[in-house]
Amino acid sequence: MSRDWIAQPAGPARGSIRVPGDKSISHRALMIATIAEGSSRVSGFLEGEDTRATERILLQLGARIEAPAASERIVHGLGLHGLSGSDRDLDCGNSGTGMRLLTGLLAGQRFSSRLVGDRSLSERPMARVITPLSKMGARIEARDGNLPPIIININNGMKAIDYNTLIPSAQVKSAILLAGLYARGETTVRESQPTRDYTERMLGAFGWPVRFAPGSATVPGGHRLVATDVEVPADFSSAAFLMVAACLLPGSDLRLLQVGMNPRRTGLLSALRLMGADIGEENHGRKGGEDVADLRVRSSRLRGIRLPTELVPDMIDEFPILFVAAALADGRTVIDGIGELRVKESDRLSAMARALAALGAQVAESSDGIVIEGGELQGGEVASLGDHRVAMAMMVAAQRAAGPVLISDCANVDTSFPGFVRLATDCGLGLRVAEPGLAPMPSG
Ligand code: S3P
Repeated sequence: MSRDWIAQPAGPARGSIRVPGDKSISHRALMIATIAEGSSRVSGFLEGEDTRATERILLQLGARIEAPAASERIVHGLGLHGLSGSDRDLDCGNSGTGMRLLTGLLAGQRFSSRLVGDRSLSERPMARVITPLSKMGARIEARDGNLPPIIININNGMKAIDYNTLIPSAQVKSAILLAGLYARGETTVRESQPTRDYTERMLGAFGWPVRFAPGSATVPGGHRLVATDVEVPADFSSAAFLMVAACLLPGSDLRLLQVGMNPRRTGLLSALRLMGADIGEENHGRKGGEDVADLRVRSSRLRGIRLPTELVPDMIDEFPILFVAAALADGRTVIDGIGELRVKESDRLSAMARALAALGAQVAESSDGIVIEGGELQGGEVASLGDHRVAMAMMVAAQRAAGPVLISDCANVDTSFPGFVRLATDCGLGLRVAEPGLAPMPSG
């Protein structure tokens, strides 16, 4: 059911909060612990719709997963060859990560599978995983245009490949590495720009002899994974929305606790600092093999920048909220090399350009970039297109608009950030869920 939000100017953002666990790590922890030997405890697990979809699929395939408390899982591993097939569709919901990683994991199994997704996921490109996995010997079918559903047929055994990815993508890299666990020989993935390395790190933590450096990763086939406990840090991408709200709202002083600081995720921090943000790091530590820190964000005047393109993969999920920062900064922001945004949960480049323009921002979109002139925003109505990150970004934009903003179709925020409304309002932001049947708001 569609759920709309009414977001209105408020702030400052204050307090100390911990956002939910990292989505990327939560998916991987369940998948890898399921094919390990022994029992692994996963704490700080993201109770989001995306990661729960992955959990349901693993249960369908025979996994034994207990949930002793919220955000806690105990996974009793089945070993590398312990999964069994399901007659029913495997429903990945809204999750590209779930579908692409599971395609890799399931490519080398001795049973066939059919992976499906919601309307948004059913329009997302899958050739990027089908091509390399087919080279490894997988027999995969998809709808015309290589769109989901994905059918994985039983194959005659997987073989290793040495593969250069065409676009930097951690999902593609991870799918190939997971398939490589089942292949004869050594599978290597090389990428022109390094992407998040959680799969490599986690395979290593579970005892697989993986070798990796920024831009390449190699797994030999035919080893075993040994259970280990995983502590999931807070998700940097979820923290990003509140971080930008605190930058933008005068008088803010917000602490975001124990946020994952993997350098392949923190590009937004570098971008915001270039814009003049005041973000300090405190209590550096390690959680589940990852660097974590508390981020202390105080408001400051932001100025427009030309974004260094090498930051793009390290902030691939943070563009909606960076656009909001740019729309409220002094001067012009120029961003290139972000064509990938067009194949996320929505076409984020045009969804955000339209939403910001609807509030009066001056934006010029090109095929793979955007130019945003900083200025003031008005109230009005915007469409999130069911994209969680567009919804949360526009909610932050509304905090500095001249009037309330109605944001449509926000239910998918639960895919990545359950409890967002509560947490955002707790730290001083203006947001409520609209009553069903509410009359449209006057714009302006
Ligand atoms: C993810 C990788 C990124 C990111 C997504 C999560 C992952 O996608 O956008 O939210 O967990 O590997 P791409 O690999 O398509 O860039």
